[in-house]
Amino acid sequence: MKVLVIGGGAREHALCRSLSLDPDVTALHCAPGNAGIAEVAELHPVDQLDGEAVARLATELGAELVVVGPEAPLVAGVADAVRAVGIPVFGPSGEAAQLEGSKAFAKDVMAGAGVPTARSYVCTTPEEIDEALDAFGAPYVVKDDGLAAGKGVVVTDDLAQARVHALSCDRVVIEEYLDGPEVSLFAITDGTTVLPLRPAQDFKRALDGDEGPNTGGMGAYSPLPWADPKLVDEVLATVLQPTVDELRRRGTPFSGLLYAGLAITSRGVRVIEFNARFGDPETQVVLARLKTPLAGVLLNSANGTLDDQAPLSWSDEAAVTVVIASHNYPDTPRTGDPIEGLDEVAEKDAPHAYVLHAGTRRDGDAIVSAGGRVLSVTATGTDLEQARERAYAAVGRIRLDGSQHRTDIARKAAEA
Ligand code: AMP
Ligand code: GLY
Repeated sequence: MKVLVIGGGAREHALCRSLSLDPDVTALHCAPGNAGIAEVAELHPVDQLDGEAVARLATELGAELVVVGPEAPLVAGVADAVRAVGIPVFGPSGEAAQLEGSKAFAKDVMAGAGVPTARSYVCTTPEEIDEALDAFGAPYVVKDDGLAAGKGVVVTDDLAQARVHALSCDRVVIEEYLDGPEVSLFAITDGTTVLPLRPAQDFKRALDGDEGPNTGGMGAYSPLPWADPKLVDEVLATVLQPTVDELRRRGTPFSGLLYAGLAITSRGVRVIEFNARFGDPETQVVLARLKTPLAGVLLNSANGTLDDQAPLSWSDEAAVTVVIASHNYPDTPRTGDPIEGLDEVAEKDAPHAYVLHAGTRRDGDAIVSAGGRVLSVTATGTDLEQARERAYAAVGRIRLDGSQHRTDIARKAAEA
């Protein structure tokens, strides 16, 4: 099978790595990719938001499956453009991707499907904003309605800060604060059948101890030793299947990856958010544990034949990923700094630890930073403790001026 992956972050590197290990994959292409993906896939320059351009590239390459990684192209309808030229595509239509593209739409779908989530108000005027903030009280949860790369959400006890953020959005969702640990659960679906993957936990805040601003995600681990073993079945029955059924009922069937961001509260599981694609960095740890070759599963989603899919097979190992981010991420990250130590990781830590590239590019012989999140250092081990040690040993070999990473990824779970 000839596969084209759209995107160029660590999630796409993880997807390409798994696809490159799949014996059914005869050719692997990525557009636009990054310096790390170039080692496993042939790169092509493309404007990933331009559906016609992506469809043309897929046709030229004779792609038999296109996998759209990030949310922005999905919301822009890139999957629709590829489907229109008759090539199977893993990823939802632009309309169905509104589940991620609009928090208000997601709330409406959840209400229709009876899916448990935080109570919320959608506000467009200063008066509505003040009423909503007053109704819920602190801590305030204020979400930009549109796509914001994980940075549109402010959770704060400070009313003034909550107001400033709310007023900066065209349309804002203000909601009840959900207490309790967070879990990311992904499911592959073809619009009818839903196949959950293994849960992971993401670390959204920039600094150790969950301090600092929200980011796209600073690290992740799987499995979750503290979680109820029945969690996946429960979320399938109360969240994932009803959401997929509701979207189909509305005439906007959702195929691809349904990402449920969940809070495990004292009153039960609640949805914090949906995403319409694989999460980053959770994908790095979930795919590190998936033994079933990936391409066939994604193709079954694309073709609407997921009911033919054999049960997925999982490794008992644990996986941890630690994100190395640029100086000043998530504000205005500095880019263009050389990255050193990648060869040492490949020499000393492989195959248990490896570096997935997020924002990198080649500059002559050097690999330099090219984004906020630069690398996602991933490791597996017999348990979280060993996976953590291996991941941090590899992180210690990487040199990137001014870079930052959290030192407490998976620590609590490993000690439990
Ligand atoms: P989102 O982009 O909706 O996932 O929000 C980003 C992060 O903000 C989440 O991962 C949570 O840590 C936090 N958050 C979002 N909504 C809530 C909520 N209702 N209660 C508590 N924390 C929240
Ligand atoms: N890790 C959070 C996200 O992918 O949105």
